[in-house]
Amino acid sequence: MQQQADGWREKWDQRHAAAEGHGEVASVLLHNSHLLPAHGAALDLACGRGASAVWLAARGLQVSAWDLSPVGIDRLEALAREQGVELHAEVRDVIAAPPEPSSFDLILVSYFLERSLAPALIAALRPGGLLCYQTFSVDAVSDCGPSNPDFRLAENELLRLFAPLRVRAYREEGRLGDCSRGVRDIAWLVAERNCA
Ligand SMILES: C[S@@+](CC[C@H](N)C(=O)[O-])C[C@H]1O[C@@H](n2cnc3c(N)ncnc32)[C@H](O)[C@@H]1O
Repeated sequence: MQQQADGWREKWDQRHAAAEGHGEVASVLLHNSHLLPAHGAALDLACGRGASAVWLAARGLQVSAWDLSPVGIDRLEALAREQGVELHAEVRDVIAAPPEPSSFDLILVSYFLERSLAPALIAALRPGGLLCYQTFSVDAVSDCGPSNPDFRLAENELLRLFAPLRVRAYREEGRLGDCSRGVRDIAWLVAERNCA
């Protein structure tokens, strides 16, 4: 288990060191910004180099940003300093150490598919909390993203994984209609934990 995590860390450290920029703000946030809480505690899980975490912090949320890769976290912290925003960034294996129950008002997961974490993510939302999840789908128009279909979402999979939550927004367009437009190659979900 530890050996596997070390292997992933090394791979992601190399990728984050070689990459230009800080990645892009997750489209599930940009498309649904009107649904997001104005304040409260937010988690960017497997945050990478930090574009989304910094964007959330700039909106006034208290952001925790966790990633396995120390290089990713260093670059995120540099971006936060550059933009003058405060957040709490941590090198953390989220599979070994998932979030505590009822600890966040917003959880973002962008391009990280670890199906076994779904129950912990649901539990980690506070009542009324929102999950924003996006990642690559098997039904896609381009060859962007992982080639191994196990690392991509099956049809309606986000809806199944997070069935206990109330769906507020969902897109999964696959190859339907005019493929030059719309949200392609990925599925995204915004879903709410019901107030008790
Ligand atoms: C495709 S990147 C996505 C980064 C970011 N969320 C984004 O949308 O740009 C996947 C990220 O997952 C992180 N990761 C992989 N396994 C992890 C684990 N077990 N715990 C925490 N982060 C992990 C990698 O270091 C990498 O930064």
